[in-house]
Amino acid sequence: MNASCHLPSLIAEATEKLRDRCGDGAVFEARLLLGIATGSDEAVYPHMRVQPTEQQIAHYDTLIAQRCAGKPISRIRGWREFWSLRFYLNSATLDPRPASELLIDKAISFAESQHNMQNQQFRVLDLGTGSGCLLLACLSELKHATGVGIDINEQAIIQAQMNARLLNLEARSKFFVSNWFDGLADNSFDIVLCNPPYIPAEDEASLQDEVRLFDPKQALFSHNQGLADYEIIFASLAVYLNPNGIACVEIGYKQSEQVMELAYRFNLNVREVLPDLQGIPRCLVLCH
Ligand SMILES: C[S@@+](CC[C@H](N)C(=O)[O-])C[C@H]1O[C@@H](n2cnc3c(N)ncnc32)[C@H](O)[C@@H]1O
Repeated sequence: MNASCHLPSLIAEATEKLRDRCGDGAVFEARLLLGIATGSDEAVYPHMRVQPTEQQIAHYDTLIAQRCAGKPISRIRGWREFWSLRFYLNSATLDPRPASELLIDKAISFAESQHNMQNQQFRVLDLGTGSGCLLLACLSELKHATGVGIDINEQAIIQAQMNARLLNLEARSKFFVSNWFDGLADNSFDIVLCNPPYIPAEDEASLQDEVRLFDPKQALFSHNQGLADYEIIFASLAVYLNPNGIACVEIGYKQSEQVMELAYRFNLNVREVLPDLQGIPRCLVLCH
């Protein structure tokens, strides 16, 4: 124990160090990082009866330095909450974004709109699964569904499999390495979820440090103004989608027109364009 440690000043000093990086979030992040340093998932508040040890205070300093260098809290503690579920991350997985929850919302409302949902064995495909967050969040809601998640990165697949185990969804999910559809034997899916890389490589310098330095490049960037992967995926999507199925595809800021044009070029219909909370189109719902 460190008898001399004064919690409010410890947190206040950390807050000042974090101010440039975290702005208004500095106070909360200082409290959360102290929680992590003292072995908890919860933020530590100044009034709490927590007495960090010397070792924990040294660890706290290290975490603050990491955060000041741009490392997101999710990367520091190794997991991110998405759809109220915990997804562990590694260096090959994207840090899941709240905007991607739009795809889950849509997939669930689609499933619920189908008759006899209780008896339906929905088949879900997640293209570019990363941590497995889209497929696993969807399966956590659709209790009769099964699904497949593919990714080109083997380390991402290993992480997704671990997340499936931890969420008790291992029996209904399968993950394997594949370059988009190349390794898929099965071609009858009711719901396809896809958040492909879509950032133009030339935009790299303008990204926040949290993204540019800590998210895997393979998860972020795509050639041809960010459209190259959509083009590959749309060229084969119809083959894998059941006649009444839907594909929920995430799109980047200002990409909706171009991605819709690509979808039409491959004879896909755009059933809906879904905006995020700021009203920006972020998800296309495609069908036959
Ligand atoms: C934007 S991330 C999405 C990750 C996760 N679905 C999510 O929403 O957090 C794109 C994912 O596509 C994978 N990917 C990139 N190119 C691929 C390819 N040719 N075939 C399969 N997956 C690919 C990346 O490894 C990455 O995991």
